[in-house]
Amino acid sequence: MEVGHIPVLAEEVMSMLAPAPGSLQIDATVGGGGHTERILEATDPDGRLLGLDADGAAIARVDGRLRPRFGDRLVLRQANFRDLATTARDAGFESVDGTLFDLGLSSYQLADTGRGFGFRAGGPLDMRFDTGRGVPAAELLATLDVAELTALFRRYGEEPKAGRIARAIVDARRTAPISSAEELAGLVERVAPPNPRIRRRIHPATRVFQALRIAVNEELDALEAGLAAAVDLLRPGGRLVVLSYHSLEDRIVKRFIAAERRGCTCPPELPVCVCGRNPRLRLLTRPSLTPSPAEIDANPRARSARLRAAERLAA
Ligand SMILES: C[S@@+](CC[C@H](N)C(=O)[O-])C[C@H]1O[C@@H](n2cnc3c(N)ncnc32)[C@H](O)[C@@H]1O
Repeated sequence: MEVGHIPVLAEEVMSMLAPAPGSLQIDATVGGGGHTERILEATDPDGRLLGLDADGAAIARVDGRLRPRFGDRLVLRQANFRDLATTARDAGFESVDGTLFDLGLSSYQLADTGRGFGFRAGGPLDMRFDTGRGVPAAELLATLDVAELTALFRRYGEEPKAGRIARAIVDARRTAPISSAEELAGLVERVAPPNPRIRRRIHPATRVFQALRIAVNEELDALEAGLAAAVDLLRPGGRLVVLSYHSLEDRIVKRFIAAERRGCTCPPELPVCVCGRNPRLRLLTRPSLTPSPAEIDANPRARSARLRAAERLAA
């Protein structure tokens, strides 16, 4: 049986995005189409939505599920949101009322035994959102040296036992390549077992899997490029809503919004502004929004979600 993806913080997303009938919206991460569906319902009868996903399987699934109901109001593109500027322009979404980013991966991807995203589902260690581009995770594990693997696990996973795990990977691959999610999860569990005295909520391989996925998909660079493009595309009064799931993503979102609220990028030692940049965003969420205990109970994958939203100023 196929698992569904429950949209996270759905009510909060809708109240921050405030999509009106007739408006133009972008969902930069369509996934299972849960948020897309709600946005299209709220913009009934003539609002239109451009939905992107790097994963062709997500686009095909949402097309099959939502096209019969929404017809031409839904425009779907398999694209990375780092290319949002050109994708939106080519699709006729040059000036929009709202853009949503719901980062990370969907329950469909996590459960797909052919993709290697989850240590529980297993499967070949690929982890690419777009399986037609880039380098699979197994190839990184086969080619990076100890120092490079250590840096990767530290930087993108904030993994305290990064060095030990990197050395074990390089030792293990002398005998045979590490090509499946089960093998990698087992290896991490052996060399960095959880401390039995500390009750941990997460599997010992969680950080390593997160780090590999971020590296394989160059997620943090894509996020910076996607956010910049999204603000350029927003009309005055248009809304930007971002759901992130770990501190590395959230830090980028927070700093991005702060910089756009400030406008001027001149060094503080300059007596007057020479860059001429005006503030382009007004913050809507202070503090940021997180799921209620009831939502986390119903959908444990929501537990690390954080929502930040901002409105485009008439700059
Ligand atoms: C958490 S899911 C979105 C779930 C969706 N909001 C829903 O309600 O079903 C994240 C999706 O973003 C996609 N994704 C992640 N990074 C991307 C990127 N840089 N460009 C395009 N899609 C991306 C993933 O393939 C995944 O399908």
